[in-house]
Amino acid sequence: MIITIDGPGASGKSSVAQEIARKLGIHHFSTGLLYRAVAYVVMYFVHSDSSNNHAVDIQNIDLSFVSEIQFRFKDGHGLVFFKGIDITEFLFDEALSQSASALSALPEVRHRLLDVQRAVAKDYDVIVDGRDCGSVVFPDADFKFFLTASVESRVQRILKDPNRAHAGHDEQYVSGQLIARDQRDSTRAIAPLVVPQDAVIIDSSDLTFHQTVDKFLEIITKKAG
Ligand code: DC
Repeated sequence: MIITIDGPGASGKSSVAQEIARKLGIHHFSTGLLYRAVAYVVMYFVHSDSSNNHAVDIQNIDLSFVSEIQFRFKDGHGLVFFKGIDITEFLFDEALSQSASALSALPEVRHRLLDVQRAVAKDYDVIVDGRDCGSVVFPDADFKFFLTASVESRVQRILKDPNRAHAGHDEQYVSGQLIARDQRDSTRAIAPLVVPQDAVIIDSSDLTFHQTVDKFLEIITKKAG
């Protein structure tokens, strides 16, 4: 079984998907981790000599290293490896979000990560979250969702999320970064963030976490039964 959840940054896709996976006894695969891994490797390995990471010319990076990024489940948790080293714990930094978004617009990055994503779903029943899961990666998924929320709600979630290191930036800064990322993810030429065909749209702006999860489960149970 494949369930996809696409949606903008900080709409709650990952936490919701994780809880649904737990309740349904399937695996959760957050595809954004792979793009974050690309950004992490570029920042700390490929250009480790650069004092200003924003100055990196992403068009001229040798992207062959992307083939050395792997995803595996261990004890039900999704882990990302680079050259065999587990780098998962480093991938949640908000500072990586912008570079992940910029690098994810490169066709070669998307192309190289496509097979990695599809291979994961061959071996497991999964709920996957990302930007193009229902539209490009798994167009034949059993269930497709698009989870969204207002910019204000998403900014508050980032500020309150202990897993997202945001380096003490204030609300205005986080909001500006989020809007810029939404814009970039939705307007890129290849596999932009769109509502996939046949996807159920859920707006969680006024819903609690548990209400949101219940909404998903209600739809899944109804359709499956
Ligand atoms: O879901 P996230 O915030 O961890 O994703 C980080 C960036 O990776 C996001 O801004 C765009 C990119 N991404 C993508 O292009 N396609 C996906 N399926 C998942 C993430």
